[in-house]
Amino acid sequence: MEPMNRIPVHVSMIMDGNGRWAKERGKERIYGHFEGVESVRACVEAAVETGVKYLSIYAFSEENWNRPQAEVDGLMELMVKAMASEMEKLNSNGVRFMVIGNRERLAPSLNQVIDSCMDMTSSNDTLTLIVFLSYSGKWDILQAAKKLARKAAASEADLEEVMSMDINGFDPFLATAGIPDPDLIVRTSGESRLSNYLLWQGAYSELLFVDTLWPDFRKEEFKSALSEYAKRDRRYGKVK
Ligand code: IPE
Ligand code: IPE
Ligand code: MG
Repeated sequence: MEPMNRIPVHVSMIMDGNGRWAKERGKERIYGHFEGVESVRACVEAAVETGVKYLSIYAFSEENWNRPQAEVDGLMELMVKAMASEMEKLNSNGVRFMVIGNRERLAPSLNQVIDSCMDMTSSNDTLTLIVFLSYSGKWDILQAAKKLARKAAASEADLEEVMSMDINGFDPFLATAGIPDPDLIVRTSGESRLSNYLLWQGAYSELLFVDTLWPDFRKEEFKSALSEYAKRDRRYGKVK
């Protein structure tokens, strides 16, 4: 295959290992989260340079709400700060910014910042950066199922439509509607699990688990991940 065809359209990162990175340096966990923002910046640049069209990052899972309150507060504060400080540059570089997740659980002040960043960048098309925040794959599938239930209850015709729906018909009900499924999901820090990430959308994603801790995952590591992806043979159940 031509090398250009081997660039994934959508790369997704499970950013893990911030706490361990900080601990190795005798610092508080939040220090690792701050340093992790630098890695996000580096990956955005690398994605633009390599022609990746969608970069998504798992920033906070629904389960992460169960962390100590001080860490949750620190992370939420960091989200606001990072969005406020990065958005102008992202916008001028043609990045469309999106947040996906259970936003009902986010503070109104954070939701306001998110909305204004999404509005400001909505017509950009160089790269779409998606932050999965208060997200879980099971939550996403459940909220889609609830939307479908509501539709089915609306009228006999709607019920018929729902009952005759095929697999692709489910996609528009997911929180990721309109976004192509991830071609490559990378998890840092040596853990080999999805931790409730894109369960539906990741059905045929290539998975890459690397030992690097997230704050050490920069441009070079991003480009190595793309090289690894280029070697994969995606068969989708068929015989090649
Ligand atoms: C990833 O780093 C960031 C979030 C999950 C919010 P962790 O905070 O999970 O770091 P480790 O896994 O404890 O090292
Ligand atoms: C997964 O990391 C969630 C994010 C990266 C946001 P965790 O550190 O929360 O995952 P577990 O608990 O090790 O599975
Ligand atoms: Mg972790």
